[in-house]
Amino acid sequence: MTRTDASRPHPAAPQPGASPLSAAAAPFRRLRTALSVSGLGQWLAVPALSAAAVLPADGTEARLRAAGAVLALLVLPAVLLAPLAGALADRVDRRLALLIADGLRFVVVLTVPLVDALPWTLAAAFLVGCLSLLWAPAASAALPALVSDATVGASAGGTVVAREAAETDLRADARRSAARAAFGPAPVAALLFAVLAVIANAVLGASHRTDLPLYATAALFVLAAALTALVKQVPATEPISVPAPLKLLFQGPGLDRAGHGLGLAVGGAALAAGAVAAVARVHTGELGGGDAGYGAVLTGLAAGLATGLFLGPRVLGPFSRRRLLGLAVIAAALLLIVAALVRNLVVVAFVAAFLGVAAGAAWSTATAAVRDPAGETGDESGDRRPRAFLASIALIGTLVAVAAVPAVAGALGSHRLTIGDGYDLDGSMAAQLIAAVLALITGAVAYRRLDDRRGIPLAADLRAALRGEVYVPPSQAPAPEPVRRERGVFVAFEGGEGAGKTTQARLAAIWLRDHGYDVITTHEPGATKIGMRLRAMLLDRDTTGLSDRAETLLYAADRADHVANVIRPALERGAIVVSDRYLDSSLAYQGYGRQQPVGAIARVNAWATGGLVPDLTVLLEVPPADGLRRLSAPADRIESEPQEFHERVQAGFRALAEAEPDRYLVLDASRPQAELSREIQYRIREILPDPIPAGTEDATSTFPAITDV
Ligand code: TMP
Repeated sequence: MTRTDASRPHPAAPQPGASPLSAAAAPFRRLRTALSVSGLGQWLAVPALSAAAVLPADGTEARLRAAGAVLALLVLPAVLLAPLAGALADRVDRRLALLIADGLRFVVVLTVPLVDALPWTLAAAFLVGCLSLLWAPAASAALPALVSDATVGASAGGTVVAREAAETDLRADARRSAARAAFGPAPVAALLFAVLAVIANAVLGASHRTDLPLYATAALFVLAAALTALVKQVPATEPISVPAPLKLLFQGPGLDRAGHGLGLAVGGAALAAGAVAAVARVHTGELGGGDAGYGAVLTGLAAGLATGLFLGPRVLGPFSRRRLLGLAVIAAALLLIVAALVRNLVVVAFVAAFLGVAAGAAWSTATAAVRDPAGETGDESGDRRPRAFLASIALIGTLVAVAAVPAVAGALGSHRLTIGDGYDLDGSMAAQLIAAVLALITGAVAYRRLDDRRGIPLAADLRAALRGEVYVPPSQAPAPEPVRRERGVFVAFEGGEGAGKTTQARLAAIWLRDHGYDVITTHEPGATKIGMRLRAMLLDRDTTGLSDRAETLLYAADRADHVANVIRPALERGAIVVSDRYLDSSLAYQGYGRQQPVGAIARVNAWATGGLVPDLTVLLEVPPADGLRRLSAPADRIESEPQEFHERVQAGFRALAEAEPDRYLVLDASRPQAELSREIQYRIREILPDPIPAGTEDATSTFPAITDV
């Protein structure tokens, strides 16, 4: 399901090479700078506030509690109050919302060193979290709103259509710019914190060393507010709507079982990354690192995350993305174990960086898997729920990590476990280990759920991917022991519209014939004379008012005739039958798609076919929107069903495949055709009987029979 939207040609998109926003007007650039400065302040606030909370705390347990509380209070508003803040941001002027958020964050952060009391530091963390919630949606709506007529004109020139298309592209670009301004400064902020910590330690002395990062944070907020004030006006053209994370989590995301695998993976990655951040301040203190060490670990983590986000879609190109996702989470969990056990600050910082890479790659791989084509162009009609669901899981996973890991660490803190020669396992290490085990289990379950290359050895698959290839078991290797059968072999190809199953079925048949098999290629509906009439009735768009049950029975009737007159006779004479669609199409389309009881349809069809089930079903998966776009002919009655219908069909196919993984080969149809063919051949080879004995060919001195129905 790799997509290449970045390079997707748009009829009126600006020419490649010319940065579409390079011609941006001054207010746009000014606001972008203001957002980046504010973003930097926002990320600097995280270590600055947690270091300030930890400083006066007495004893490890209190320090852990203080650090955990600050982080949890920073994240908590995003979990509880996001839609409320979004609604507020939507009501006020965008510029005003940004000014309020930056101005108030300046005041709140500035008062922390002045008041110098833990309860206020904690309250400040909560307030900063709330104000950041107001800021974030206003920021992502404000920048696209400044894509001015002048900017569009500069990059599009020409016609009204060209201008409209260019404007859509530029707004999407602006939205990405806003996201970069909000998240991009994280590694810089962590590094800045480390530098400020070193300076503060030397200049301000031990008791006030956390003041400098706080003043710097406040200064960044006030600077951002001043820069925003310079932008005279931000039109309210972009609506704001922020989904509620908890609601999304409980209502379900509109994803199938594999989609839940994605959710598990994201949760595991967030848990691992959150656990490192949660105890980093106290852990580094115990390793003699202080605030500078804390900054170093956070720099590693944030830089790693940024790298992982960038690398996720690029690394190991030919390797299955679904496998990669599970592996990334497992890697993050293993790295957390190392981070917990190692007693050297430099190593911990590096391990945190690698952990960040793994977690970042997991996030970008998971979101790429659910990304809606409309999501990139900013089309509000696109279903963004799956991505928002993953974002909610990431948020809640982080909250759980930053709240629970320090709490567990604090609770275990006093029970030191000395291993061997004075190696102490303290509370924060043990808490990280517990989080790592949970992340590991989550990663392993996600890997199993998502694995789309079952049966293919992982090590060989990885080695091939490192060479830039897809692993296909070498043909000279001994073929798997052929399964001897009394009858022929039945292979069905299934999938949604435009998945390319007809092509793959034909290619498989050609390959089988080349290997000397008697092959029948056939299809449903309409492989027999009666079937052709039924097909016309079923698919003609002029057929109106056909009830769902009647449709189901007509497909079953077609299948009964097909089995009786084509498939069974061929199998009985030992041929290989390759069918483009079979029973699963009825279960997926009439069952899941039309929302009729799948069990009842299965029973009707079992009777119609005398219980004939394929030896192998190849399921080609394609996102319905992409598949429908691939179709060239005018839509038939089923194809013209709405997209939700096709989404249900796709989810249905997947559920069927997951219920019986041994009988299915599930493939991502967006992969190159040749790769898909190779995998299909490899899998079919496992169920083939011995090829026709040489003697038979000698006797007939012809090719084996080739029959097309
Ligand atoms: P085709 O165009 O791939 O030959 O498939 C015909 C259409 O019939 C396709 O849209 C899927 C649909 N269909 C069902 O709804 N139920 C079935 O049992 C079968 C075999 C096909």
